[in-house]
Amino acid sequence: MLDSRVAETLSQILGPKGFTTDAQDIAPWLTDWRALYTGKASALASPASVAEVQAVMRFAAEHQIPIVPQGGNSSMVGGATPDARGDAIILSTRRMNAIRSLDAQANIVVAEAGVILANLHDAARAQGRRFPLTLGARGSATIGGLVSTNAGGTQVLRFGTMRKLVLGVEAVLPDGQIYEGLAALKKDNRGYDLTQLLVAAEGTLGVVTAASLRLVPDILDRAVGWLGVESPEAALSLLQRLEAESGEAIESFELVPDGSLQLVLQHIPGTRAPLGGAHPWHVLVEYVRTNAAAVAPEVALEALLATALEAGLCQDAALAVSEVQADAFWKLRDSISEAERAHGPAMQHDISVAVEDMPRFIREASLAVERAFPGVSVNAYGHLGDGNVHFHVRAPAGVNGPEWRLSTGKAASHMVYDLVTAAGGSISAEHGIGQMKRDELGRLSSPARLTALRAIKSALDPKGIMNPGKLIP
Ligand code: MLT
Ligand code: ZN
Repeated sequence: MLDSRVAETLSQILGPKGFTTDAQDIAPWLTDWRALYTGKASALASPASVAEVQAVMRFAAEHQIPIVPQGGNSSMVGGATPDARGDAIILSTRRMNAIRSLDAQANIVVAEAGVILANLHDAARAQGRRFPLTLGARGSATIGGLVSTNAGGTQVLRFGTMRKLVLGVEAVLPDGQIYEGLAALKKDNRGYDLTQLLVAAEGTLGVVTAASLRLVPDILDRAVGWLGVESPEAALSLLQRLEAESGEAIESFELVPDGSLQLVLQHIPGTRAPLGGAHPWHVLVEYVRTNAAAVAPEVALEALLATALEAGLCQDAALAVSEVQADAFWKLRDSISEAERAHGPAMQHDISVAVEDMPRFIREASLAVERAFPGVSVNAYGHLGDGNVHFHVRAPAGVNGPEWRLSTGKAASHMVYDLVTAAGGSISAEHGIGQMKRDELGRLSSPARLTALRAIKSALDPKGIMNPGKLIP
């Protein structure tokens, strides 16, 4: 319970729309979207301006109240869910949802933390520009969360993760000071890069309130293909060939094992397989054109795929004949998580290794895990060209989900993370650490990494009030 004087003061600062201690109002924000974590909170603060965030943070610092920043609540690792103690205030950025400026000439947009990604896409498109980062949760994920987790998604191949697109950040630090780093300077050598330090900090160093982001020209048109391939090795060779022959026109290249496609077809209404025959692996490829003088994308992609078929790099291919069909192909890819959730328990591992090494890793690690834990099945899908797949281990049919997760599931996760670490990779490629991977980060990081992480955290947040229990082991 929050001290009644504290609640009274915050309520006065934030107004009725900005502050509540009502359990019913708070309840929807206590559980993550995958329903893996449920915590408790004493209040929900929804400031509408950076000044209000500052007021909350000053107050929290003075009274040592834990603050859990939350955007769209679409964290994959429990990063925005409070812990079980119940003394935290959830600080929702939802009401800070203005696009402060959009300069099409300079290709810079300044968006507040609560702007939903899909809304940013629309705003950029209205000015002939686009924000080149997208993901399945674009209808709920917010800019603050995307910055704070260094989100990835399905366009990283060409434009990089959020880190590459963030030009500046405004944030309120744990003691209430405002870090005004929105200016998008091409050169800035004032020592440590605080903006980039706040990217991927998962709300443990302060509250990101706005970001300056890079825009690129909008696409003129695109071609989307669905391919049947024999193996991840063949898929990677195909990608390398497509990239060599098409310059920067290939913007997405997503690997989908047949197991994942079948789950989508089974659980997501209105979906159908793009190809007639059966294939062990599939690839979704997107080819874009931004310049009218270039060859039409469907012509270019069709020619590229014809030679790939001849070379045996893919066994079959379907090109979407309309935007509606292109969206239907993308829906198959974007629904994998949802279909899997509908199907049954699974352990999710968002991992990366060197791009060249990923096909071998998928093959050997899948075999090792399936042998060690009879009855489980591995689906490794996603961003092959980034050396990042979602290596999901599905439980055998009929198990008790929560029990399985804590016993066999946990042991399988240990094994996956050990194999990734042995391969020189990362236990978190794009989803962050949150509470899901915090212990594993502690178990598998070098002393140098842990020392630096902890030193930065305690220097900026000496009272430990920012998003406790997340990221830092
Ligand atoms: C994806 O690529 O689909 C997302 O990162 C979510 C997931 O892990 O499935
Ligand atoms: Zn992903």
